[in-house]
Amino acid sequence: MLKAATTTFIAIVTSFLFFSSPPKSFYHSLFISDSLADNASISQHLYILTRRPHVAGTQANAEAAAYVLSILTSYNIGSHIASYDVLLSYPVSRSLTLTRPPPNPPITFDLRQEIYDGDPYADVADEVMPTFHAYAKSGTVSGPVLYVNYGRVEDYMTLKEMGVNVTNNVVLARYGQIYRGDIVSNAYEAGATGVIIYTDRKDYGGGGGDAKWFPDDKWMPPSGVQVGSVFTGPGDPTTPGWPSRGACERLSDKEVVKGGDVPLIPSLPVSAADGEAILGSIAGQIANDDWQGGKDAPVYRVGPGPGIVNLSYTGKEVISTIQNVIGVIEGAEEPDRFVILGNHRDAWTFGAVDPNSGTAALLEIAQRLQKLQKKGWKPRRTIVFCNWDAEEYGLVGSTEWVEENREILASRAVAYLNVDCAVTGAGFHASATPQLDELIKQATQQVQDPDNSSQTIFDSWAASSNGPMIGRLGGGGSDYASFVQHVGVPAADMSFGKGYPVYHSMYDDFIWMKKFGDPMFHRHVAGLFSYYFI
Ligand SMILES: *[C@@H]1O[C@H](CO)[C@@H](O)[C@H](O)[C@H]1NC(C)=O
Ligand SMILES: *[C@@H]1O[C@H](CO)[C@@H](O)[C@H](O)[C@H]1NC(C)=O
Ligand SMILES: *[C@@H]1O[C@H](CO)[C@@H](O)[C@H](O)[C@H]1NC(C)=O
Ligand SMILES: *[C@@H]1O[C@H](CO)[C@@H](O)[C@H](O)[C@H]1NC(C)=O
Repeated sequence: MLKAATTTFIAIVTSFLFFSSPPKSFYHSLFISDSLADNASISQHLYILTRRPHVAGTQANAEAAAYVLSILTSYNIGSHIASYDVLLSYPVSRSLTLTRPPPNPPITFDLRQEIYDGDPYADVADEVMPTFHAYAKSGTVSGPVLYVNYGRVEDYMTLKEMGVNVTNNVVLARYGQIYRGDIVSNAYEAGATGVIIYTDRKDYGGGGGDAKWFPDDKWMPPSGVQVGSVFTGPGDPTTPGWPSRGACERLSDKEVVKGGDVPLIPSLPVSAADGEAILGSIAGQIANDDWQGGKDAPVYRVGPGPGIVNLSYTGKEVISTIQNVIGVIEGAEEPDRFVILGNHRDAWTFGAVDPNSGTAALLEIAQRLQKLQKKGWKPRRTIVFCNWDAEEYGLVGSTEWVEENREILASRAVAYLNVDCAVTGAGFHASATPQLDELIKQATQQVQDPDNSSQTIFDSWAASSNGPMIGRLGGGGSDYASFVQHVGVPAADMSFGKGYPVYHSMYDDFIWMKKFGDPMFHRHVAGLFSYYFI
């Protein structure tokens, strides 16, 4: 999620790294100087990385790994691929029907995201994986449908107060406030037999009247679906706590289920249009005001029924090979201390925001550091570039690598700097462990705001409603989790913009980025500088 993030990232990275004469400040300025700055190459990396969908474990993502490896190698960075064999999950078949009281005919949803006129990715649209929830339980469930708002624990308490019994019903929840894996496990705890999760226009835009959506505006189209994982643990579910290498020991299916992190009822994500059709079949008590939709939305009721849904999902879970790409620049003064920069590569679809805005930033940083090396610069500490795989499934690539290198990381890693969705729009955002707070503030004071040339990123951040606030890294969120939570390495996660409407849908492509996320790629470049200074 970083654009100015990239510059900020670079700023941050260089703070850790500089050692040599001429003084650090010389290389700092060189790093961010126009002679080295290049929004064209960062945009080119993003364009190439996002030409095809590249889900973890697929050939397209192995090709993307080869691209990252070849770029790092071309910058003279010693690089290799660290592979793991991990349990990934893919859809085999899905169906969803809605039976409504007469005279309304039943609906069989087609569960397809639509291409638009002139979509330059139309020729690869059938490479987009059918919409699904990774690690969802296979099965068929049928029953009256019940609306549960965001599917949080407090939403079920509200239903209980309303006297609504969830047991043996299929619930309809909207995306937005909590992790989708928790939506499914909360539904299970409440007694539901299955879960449908839709994108409400109130949260993801594009709704009602003369509203517009992608490609005319940044909002999610009515057929857009947020796919994603519903696994609630970190790393390969079959190897909790140890690396998934070759013929290592693995948990059986039964033991994985006992572990408690895989869902126990089927679920399916659907579009705003399908969610609205299902809501239209639900009668009963009127839902509370804060459960309602946006402007122009019909009144939402909680049910259950009379609409009856039949949800059928079959997935396959297979041990698949994933590739982390690792590159190393050895430090001159403290070679046994590591500053680690990480970003994942695998994407649910094209991944222009999530995660390849971060990958483009990572490659651009590598290129700039190589240019500095040519001018005589040597990093003080060793820099490790990590391009993770299978983050989307549950932080799998980073977790397996940390598990494999636990001892050395615990004793030698100085910091882990993460970017995931590096750029979704304007405005700097950061989360970190507290040791890095000051550094992030200092770094952002050295970089011009890409959206306001008369002040620094820090100034704009400080003047914004969230500034200059640094969040904490408590949750699963992204690949920093195993560094912070398993080995206690200080870490930061940064972005320009926060959240974006086409998240995890097939519209997260280069066109969306170029039109709405970062039209001139200045936010990407600025983010890179900040990383560097840290
Ligand atoms: C909820 O419904 C289930 C199944 O129909 C039933 O067994 C249970 O007693 C009901 N709970 C309440 C509190 O009414
Ligand atoms: C639900 O759908 C499945 C798959 O299409 C079908 O086999 C099953 O008979 C349906 N169940 C009901 C109760 O309609
Ligand atoms: C840009 O920065 C200047 C100087 O700090 C400030 O006065 C102005 O309001 C900012 N513009 C915007 C659009 O935020
Ligand atoms: C790079 O920025 C310049 C303006 O500074 C702009 O004209 C150009 O279109 C940008 N390049 C890309 C690839 O966005």
